[in-house]
Amino acid sequence: MRNAVYPGSFDPFTNGHLDIVERSLRVVDSLTIAVLKNTSKKSMFTPDERVDIMREVLKKYPQVKVETFEGLLVDFCRTRNIRIVIRGLRAVSDFDYEHAIFLMNRKLLPDLETMFLMAGSDNSFISSTIVKEVAHFGGNIADQVPAIVFERMQKKKSQHTES
Ligand code: PNS
Repeated sequence: MRNAVYPGSFDPFTNGHLDIVERSLRVVDSLTIAVLKNTSKKSMFTPDERVDIMREVLKKYPQVKVETFEGLLVDFCRTRNIRIVIRGLRAVSDFDYEHAIFLMNRKLLPDLETMFLMAGSDNSFISSTIVKEVAHFGGNIADQVPAIVFERMQKKKSQHTES
C-alpha cells in the first residue's frame, strides 16, 4: 500500500489543491490530507472548519482522509506509517520554500520521500492567500475554488458583515 500525506494550510482549499489531490490518487493508494493547526498566517477558516469543508468536497474519494495536525510533519508520518509527502509546485517562486521544507523533512526522517506535482497552467496562478484577498474585496473567485468552498466563503463573509 502506498500511503501518502498532503500537508498544508488549505485556507481555503482551492481548485489548485483539488487538482493535486486528484492527480496524486493516480499514483498512491491512500491519501491523508493534513491541515496544519499551528499556523501564524491570518486565517479565514478555523482548522476544523477547513477539515469539514474538505471532507465535503472530497467525499467521493473513499481513499482520502482529512485531519488536522500539530507539531512536526515527520511525527505525523511516523505515527501513521506514511513515507510519502505530496506537495504542489506552481512556479519557480515556490521552489526555495519547498526545497527547504524537503531538506528539513528528509534530515528529520531520512526514508521520507517528497513527490512534487507541477500545477497545470489553469491553476498555476491560484493561491489561497490571493483568493482570500480578492474575495475580501468583493472580486469573483468562483472559478478558483470548488463550489462548496465558494458557498462557505460567501457565508463567512455575510456573518462578518452582520456582526
Ligand atoms: O500550505 P503551506 O502553509 O505552505 O504548508 C506548509 C506545511 C504545513 C507543509 C509546513 O509548514 C509544515 O509541514 N509544517 C509543520 C511543521 C514542520 O514539520 N516543520 C518542519 C518542516 S518545514
